[in-house]
Amino acid sequence: MFGLVARVLFLPSAAGTVYWTVGDAVQKKAADIKTLQARAPELGEIKRSCSIADDCLKHNQSILAIIQRELDQVKRVIESAHIQLEEQKKRVEKASEDREAAADALQSSASNAQEASADVKQAKKALDASRAAVSARTAVVRQANEALANATAHLETVITGSAPDEIPSAYADEENKQTALDAAQAELREAEKREAEDSRTASDAEELLQKREIQQQEAQKDFDHASATLRSAQGVLEKMRERSRPVQLKISELSESLDAQKSRVDALTKVSNDLHDAVRRLQDQHDADQRRVADDSRCIESLRVAEGQARRAAAAYNATRHAYAAAPNEYLLGPAWEAKDRLDNTKFRYQWHELQIKCAPQTCLDPLRPCAPRIPTLAKPLGCETDTGGTCRWLWCDPSRNAFCDHDTSSCQCLPGTCGISGQCQSRGPPPAATLEEPAVLERAEATSSGSLKIFVVIFAAMVGMTAAAAQKRSGSRDAILSERLLD
Ligand SMILES: *[C@@H]1O[C@H](CO)[C@@H](O)[C@H](O)[C@H]1NC(C)=O
Ligand SMILES: *[C@@H]1O[C@H](CO)[C@@H](O)[C@H](O)[C@H]1NC(C)=O
Ligand SMILES: *[C@@H]1O[C@H](CO)[C@@H](O)[C@H](O)[C@H]1NC(C)=O
Repeated sequence: MFGLVARVLFLPSAAGTVYWTVGDAVQKKAADIKTLQARAPELGEIKRSCSIADDCLKHNQSILAIIQRELDQVKRVIESAHIQLEEQKKRVEKASEDREAAADALQSSASNAQEASADVKQAKKALDASRAAVSARTAVVRQANEALANATAHLETVITGSAPDEIPSAYADEENKQTALDAAQAELREAEKREAEDSRTASDAEELLQKREIQQQEAQKDFDHASATLRSAQGVLEKMRERSRPVQLKISELSESLDAQKSRVDALTKVSNDLHDAVRRLQDQHDADQRRVADDSRCIESLRVAEGQARRAAAAYNATRHAYAAAPNEYLLGPAWEAKDRLDNTKFRYQWHELQIKCAPQTCLDPLRPCAPRIPTLAKPLGCETDTGGTCRWLWCDPSRNAFCDHDTSSCQCLPGTCGISGQCQSRGPPPAATLEEPAVLERAEATSSGSLKIFVVIFAAMVGMTAAAAQKRSGSRDAILSERLLD
C-alpha cells in the first residue's frame, strides 16, 4: 500500500519519473526472500536424495568390484587347471603311443617266437630222420658184420674142409663182405655225423625258441605295463575334468551376476548423474536467489540515499524558485538555476533513474514478485555550458561575451543563471515554474485525497508531455533538440 501511495505522491517532473521506490524495493526483497525460502527445502531434499543415491551407487560399485575380483581369481584357478589338463592330455597321448609301440613289439616278438617254434619243429623232424638213418645204417652194419662173420666162418670151413677149389671164391666172398662192411660203416659214420649236426641244429633252435619266448613274455609284460599306465593317465584326466566342471559352473554364475551388477551400477550412475545435475541446477538457482536478495538489500540502501538527496534538492529548488517568484531579482536567479541544475543533473535525477532501472525487475513473469513498469531510458542531461570559449590572460573578457574572467583558468565564464551559447553568456530567464517543468517534489503521504487526485492529474499531464518530447526527440530535428535543451 505504501509503495502505491509513495509512487503516486513521489512522482514526477518533466524528465524524471519515480518508477521504482524504496517501498517497491522492500516489497520485492520480501517476495525474493519468500521465493528463496520456498525453493530451499527442495534443494535440501534433492541433496539428501543425491547423497542416498551416491551411497547406494558406492555400495553397488564395491559389490561389483568384489564380484570382479572373485571372478578373476576363479578364472586364474581354471587357467592353471586347464594347463594341468593339457599336460595330462599330453601324458595320455604319450601313454597311448607307448602302448601302441608295446603292442607292436609284442606282436613282432610273438611272430618271432612262432617262427622259432616252427624252426624247432623242423629241426626235430630232421633230427628224427637222421636218427632213423643212423639206426638203419647200424642195422646194415650189423648185417654186414654178420655177413662178414658168416663169410669168415665159411672161409675157415673151406680151408679146413675138403674143398680147396672153393677157397678162392670164399676168400673173395669174405673180401667182398669186408668191403661191404667198410662201406656200411662209412655210411653209418656219415649218418652219425649228420645226426650230430641235426642234433646241434635242433638244440640251437630250441635255445633260440626259449630266448624268443622269454622276449615275448617280456614284451607282454611291457605291454601290460603300458596299458596300465594309459588307464591310470586316462583316469587322472577324467578326474581332472570332473574337478573343473563345478569351477566352470561357478564362472558362468559369477559372469551372470557380474553382468547384472554392471547394469545395476550403470542405472544407478545415471540416476546419480541426473540427481547431481538437478542439485547443480537448484544450487545455481538458490545462489541466484541469494544474490537477488543481496542485490535487493543494496538497492534499498542506494534508493534510500538517492531519494533523500532528491528530496533535499527538490526542497532547495522549491525554496529558491518561490523566493524568486515572490521577488524577481537578478541575484536570486543564479542560486535558483544552480538548485535546478543540482536537482536535474547527473548526481540525482539521471543516476537515480539509472538506479531504478537497475533495481526494478526486468520482467513481469514471476507472480511472486511485484511487477515493475517498463522504465524508459533517459538521455543524459545536457546541462548548461558556462565556458564561453574566450580567454582573459592578457585582456579583459570581451563585453559582448557578457562573461567574467576566471583568473584560475584565465577563461571567460558565465555567471550563474546564464549559459554560454555561441560564445555569449545568455540569460536562462526565470526559473521554470510551469507544472510541466516542475522538478520531483516529495509531498507528505498524509496529503488529502483531493490533493492526491490533483497530483495524479499533474502526473498524467507530465507523462503525456514526456511522451510527446520523446516522440519529437526520435524525429531527430534540430527543433526537437533545441526544445529538449530548453526543457533541460
Ligand atoms: C544396490 O542398488 C540397488 C538398486 O539397484 C539397491 O536397492 C541396493 O540397496 C543397493 N545395494 C547397496 C548395498 O546399497
Ligand atoms: C649166416 O649163417 C646162418 C647159419 O648158417 C644163417 O642163418 C644166416 O642167415 C647167415 N647170414 C647171412 C647174412 O648170410
Ligand atoms: C515550496 O515553497 C513554498 C514557499 O517556501 C512553500 O509554501 C511550499 O509549501 C513548498 N512546497 C513544497 C512542496 O515543499
